[in-house]
Amino acid sequence: MPRLLIHLILATTFVSIATSCFFTPKWKVYITNATPDNIVVHVRSKDDDLGNHTLPSSGEYDFSFCDSFLGTSRFNGEFWWGQKYQILDVLARSKCQRFGFRVYDCYWLVRPDGFYVSTLNISFPDPLWSFYKAWG
Ligand SMILES: *[C@@H]1O[C@H](CO)[C@@H](O)[C@H](O)[C@H]1NC(C)=O
Ligand SMILES: *[C@@H]1O[C@H](CO)[C@@H](O)[C@H](O)[C@H]1NC(C)=O
Repeated sequence: MPRLLIHLILATTFVSIATSCFFTPKWKVYITNATPDNIVVHVRSKDDDLGNHTLPSSGEYDFSFCDSFLGTSRFNGEFWWGQKYQILDVLARSKCQRFGFRVYDCYWLVRPDGFYVSTLNISFPDPLWSFYKAWG
């Protein structure tokens, strides 16, 4: 193979590793605090602990992540709002995974009545926001 072609293939490969997940889909998870108070969010998987984050009212927090080959990764999100608490899988596969897409966007809206999820950041209320869970 000509050297130039090899260089080109290597360069293209590195660019795609740097910007996407290469073989597996990428998840982008956005969490917006739509309560009037601070909330605390703690996201972690089996291998990664993203730590506690305090979000002010209207505050946002996001993270992204390359899925595992088998698509079995889980990221649990723990949420505290005053005395209320809830835990849920923030990679909501049934809601956010879309056939044929390489990037799955999961938008979470944390509201006083509970947790809503959508694949688009649209204004609330909208039928695209599906109610996922109430506070515990
Ligand atoms: C995270 O925040 C919660 C709620 O404020 C608290 O109970 C917990 O101890 C904190 N965890 C860490 C590791 O700081
Ligand atoms: C969603 O859209 C609103 C309005 O454009 C914007 O202010 C907000 O930052 C966006 N949130 C996220 C998580 O992208």
